[in-house]
Amino acid sequence: MLIYIISVSSFSRIVAAYVYRRSSTESLCPQVDALYPSRNGELWKNLGKTFDTDAFKGRAIDWLGGAVRIPTESYDKMGPVGEDVRWEAFQPFHDYLLQAFPLVHTTLTLTKVNTYGLIYEWKGTNDTYKPLLLAAHQDVVPVDPTTVGEWTHPPYSGYYDGERLWGRGSSDDKSGLIGILSSVESLLENAFFPTRTVVLAFGFDEETSGLHGAATLAPALLSLYGENGYSLLVDEGGGFMEQHGSVLAVPAIAEKGYMDVRLTVSSPGGHSSLPPPHTSIGILSRLLVEFENNPFDVHLERDTPVYAMVQCMAAHTKDMPARLRKAIKASPHSKKALRRAEKELFQDPAVKSLVGTTQAIDLVQGGVKTNALPEEAWAVVNHRVATQSTLSAVQERDTELLKSLAHKFNLTYTAFGSSISTQEAPAYGTLTLADAWGAALEPAPITPTDAVPYRILSGTIKATYNAQRGLEGDNIIISPGIMSGNTDTRYYWKLTPHIIRYNHNNAGKDKLLSGVHTVNEFIGVVDFVEMIRFFTTLILNVDEAADL
Ligand SMILES: *[C@@H]1O[C@H](CO)[C@@H](O)[C@H](O)[C@H]1NC(C)=O
Ligand SMILES: *[C@@H]1O[C@H](CO)[C@@H](O)[C@H](O)[C@H]1NC(C)=O
Ligand SMILES: [Zn+2]
Repeated sequence: MLIYIISVSSFSRIVAAYVYRRSSTESLCPQVDALYPSRNGELWKNLGKTFDTDAFKGRAIDWLGGAVRIPTESYDKMGPVGEDVRWEAFQPFHDYLLQAFPLVHTTLTLTKVNTYGLIYEWKGTNDTYKPLLLAAHQDVVPVDPTTVGEWTHPPYSGYYDGERLWGRGSSDDKSGLIGILSSVESLLENAFFPTRTVVLAFGFDEETSGLHGAATLAPALLSLYGENGYSLLVDEGGGFMEQHGSVLAVPAIAEKGYMDVRLTVSSPGGHSSLPPPHTSIGILSRLLVEFENNPFDVHLERDTPVYAMVQCMAAHTKDMPARLRKAIKASPHSKKALRRAEKELFQDPAVKSLVGTTQAIDLVQGGVKTNALPEEAWAVVNHRVATQSTLSAVQERDTELLKSLAHKFNLTYTAFGSSISTQEAPAYGTLTLADAWGAALEPAPITPTDAVPYRILSGTIKATYNAQRGLEGDNIIISPGIMSGNTDTRYYWKLTPHIIRYNHNNAGKDKLLSGVHTVNEFIGVVDFVEMIRFFTTLILNVDEAADL
């Protein structure tokens, strides 16, 4: 998953003009205290000491390095497992897991789904508690062979330079997968057995939309514990970073929707020496211009994840520019303040893109010969659908957008299976809008933040952050965030309303520079050990939470 965490870099360019006063709007982003395991407090402290040792660091390097050294690339448009031999690259990865994590494999029950999907069940002693579900993906983005020379260390070397571990997948997402297994192996070595069942689910084609992996794991997970059968699901996602003088962790509670719309124009062919005023390519071009002339109207809206995030920043960060903070704090009750905040925030186009529905013309094709009129031309427009919108709203808007042009060019118009045309047949040609590959996806249901699972996760993040640095008290702000892309969780909506996309990983320091999806991917080994500490603390905290 390529993530973009709202960076709000433009904030820093805004000149402070007002003095910040504390106000009651801080309650718009309530914070919990750090949550430390208590029943298992001794175990947690002992494990913490282990995690601080060089010996453990060495194990972490071996665990992750070994995983990185096995290429598990997933490609677009792969055939089914069993037919497309490229999937066989995952068998050595399974063999590796088996020898690297012996206690995991003797204690947990492993089920393979569609050969390469992995579900591990760690049975708790009390099955009245809904399981905790931890997810990650085994696959990595392919390394472009033409870029191998640009890698400081070869992409599948898993090379450790004394500080960082290098290679494809070292961050996305083998750090998550190996982080979870390292944590479970360590807990087992310390004779921990859970009260609440823990389930691990590892897909194998997240980077190519999860069709063979998570899509087949989902029904298996559903049949294990049923609809809404899991207490909390944590998958890859947002991390933590420094913003406005404070450290902020941003677990994503939402994912935008997705839709590729194919526009197809057909018109009579013939010899190009006797052309009509507009060929199908000409008409298609005019339609595409209509898209770019009409971007979606985007506004910062209350009750949306991005709004919740800026509220958290305004309420808790140390040095957000005062003018912006003032606008955000007044915005719950003032429409003018809301628009003022929006104006400042949208100076960063990335923020605006994250808030609204976007459109990008990504594919175009038409014509075969210079002396033949093209009978057909098509293009695909990619939309990322705002969390507060729906697929049908986007379809309606696109349909409306082209209505008058369809009429003008004398085209029979069909959109998403419905006849729109007012044109009397026979028309000059046709215009068809359709979901390009049937891969459209609604925006994800929004994860509740005023609920026990989100609070336990928040407290766990704070405890992990403190334990890693020998701190006490409140040192990191928890803010809901949003994913700019989709994770495997797109298939897991029925399993629980409490889906959180989060890597306990320093996104601000490293992640944006760390070569995720490009050359020179790496992870700081100290940061990786912190991820193991996070999963360990989460498993123990969740195990102790009777009210989850
Ligand atoms: C399981 O937990 C429930 C709820 O806390 C409790 O009432 C029950 O006694 C527990 N069962 C076992 C076998 O410990
Ligand atoms: C539309 O095209 C058809 C077929 O070429 C033609 O018969 C008809 O007159 C055209 N209608 C208009 C309004 O130009
Ligand atoms: Zn990923």
